[in-house]
Order: sequence, then C-alpha cells, then structure tokens
Amino acid sequence: MTSLLQFARHRLDDSVRDLLDKEISERVSETRLDSDLDDAILAGIGAYALSRHLPGDVLQSVQVFTAAARHALVLSNLPAQDFPATPVSGFGDEPELAVTNAIHLGLIRLIGATPFAVAYENDGHLIRNVVPNPKACGTTSSWGADSEFFWHSDNPHQPFGRPGSDPRLYTPPYLTFYAVRNEEQVPTEIAALDDVLVRLDPETRQILQTPEFEFGAPDSNDGGATGPLREAAILEPDGTGRHRVRYDRGHTTGVTDRSRAALERWAETLTAIPAAELVLDTGDFMIFDNHRVLHRRKAFTPRPDATARWLRRCYAA
Ligand SMILES: [Fe+2]
Repeated sequence: MTSLLQFARHRLDDSVRDLLDKEISERVSETRLDSDLDDAILAGIGAYALSRHLPGDVLQSVQVFTAAARHALVLSNLPAQDFPATPVSGFGDEPELAVTNAIHLGLIRLIGATPFAVAYENDGHLIRNVVPNPKACGTTSSWGADSEFFWHSDNPHQPFGRPGSDPRLYTPPYLTFYAVRNEEQVPTEIAALDDVLVRLDPETRQILQTPEFEFGAPDSNDGGATGPLREAAILEPDGTGRHRVRYDRGHTTGVTDRSRAALERWAETLTAIPAAELVLDTGDFMIFDNHRVLHRRKAFTPRPDATARWLRRCYAA
C-alpha cells in the first residue's frame, strides 16, 4: 500500500535566500522586536519580503496549503541569521532572533493562519524552543531527548474547535517549526491519519469514534494547569468527509473493554504505517496539520548545550 501523505517540499535558491536575508535584516535592524509583544509587526515584515521574493510556484504552494488540505509542507534554505547558543533552559533573548521570527511568523501569515500560544504551556510564550532541556530528562516532552516520543498529536486533551473560534481553547490545528540547528540529524517523522484509517478494520474504526476514551494532559503542560478530557473519541468526523485525530500513547486510555481492545489494535497498526522521515536542518520551515497528521521523534543523544538540537515551534490556527 502506498502512502496517502500529501506533502509539499520546496528548496529556495541561494540567491532568493540572500535577498530575503538582506531585506528582512535591514527592516528589523531599525527597531527592537519581541516575538511575544510584536508578533504582528514581525509577521508583516516577513510576509512582505517573502511575498515579493518567493518564486511564484512556492508562494502559491504556501498560500493554498490549508485550502488544499495538504498534510504537511517543508520549505528549505530560508535565511539563517547568526544564532546564539542553544537556550537549553527553554528560553532565550527573543529580540535577538528577529530575522528568524519575521520569517517564521511571515510564513504563518502567508499561509493565512494566526499564530497563538496557550497559557498552560511554555509560560505562555508564543514560540517554544524545542531543545534538550536537562530538566525534562526522562519525560516525553518537546524539551526531552532521552525518551522516545511514540506517534501522537499535540495537546489531545483539548476538544476540537470550530472554525472562527478562539484557538487557545482547543487542540492546535497546525504546528509550525523553524529549524535553527540539528547537527544530531534527528528526524521528525510524520504520518497521515488516512494511512492509519485504511489499515484498520471497520469495527475498530467505529469504536475509535465512540466517546469511550480519556486523554490526560501531556508532560509539556504546566503542572495541574489543565485537566483530562473525558468521554471523548480518538477519531472524529471533521464535517468535510475527513477525520481528525487526538492521540498520545502515554496519556490515552480506553474506559471500556471494547475501547481498550480497539486502542491496542490502533497502537499496533501505528507500528507499521508509512511515514516521512524529515531531518530538519538550519533554515528549514515545516508546517503540518495536527488534526490529520501524527508525529514522533526517537530518543537521541544531544550535542553539548551550545550546539544542541534547536527547533522553534509555534502553534497556528
Ligand atoms: Fe509533539
């Protein structure tokens, strides 16, 4: 069976990258821009330069991403500024990363999405530094390294929102990343929900759509800030003929015998689904649909702190 993952990948020419770098660097150097306070201004600077300099086919691919219902998009060879040491404590100087933030938030704007943060995670900051934080040792958090992340969606303990709602109350529709460094060459793997669905028998699919599951808060949530989601389904129809998913192995339980059995078949199916293994490198941007894609990262040994793996993540709706 071939993969149903619909995934667009583009690489910019060096000349386009350098033009973007020059223009965005000039604009952000006139001022001091913080990703939490000035996100709309950073997005405006980035989107202006990107819309002027991205080749037509790349710009179009970015702009139709949500309407085309693609699972994921990767754009490589974006400008890479002089980066500071990896902030392994989790937080660093945001204004110092203005060029990176303008590109990251500019791309989210061109996609037609809105970046957002939630109060119960990452101290409420917009951009999450995905780094090996020594304090997260042994946890399956985006700050972890030594524990494997099994296939999951982010924040499955929140309900699915309706379009036009405040996204902070719901499970994030999109995850976006800008890669600062990944010398360890750790892949981020993504798989389409459709590829799981076609491998499940109809009865299991049906049970996974019943509200016989419970979803606990993931390790990345600030202790006790959010409660579990009870009487919810793993799969829900999204109203457009597709399904959306919530799942995180460590925090998803069945509350009936048949749902526990279905959950086992689901997890078993996940061990053999086709996946794209993406080694994000400096200057790579990725977006994927958190409702229709499962993702995972294997355990890895980080480099010394200053050069340890560092991705920047932002939720978008
Ligand atoms: Fe995740």
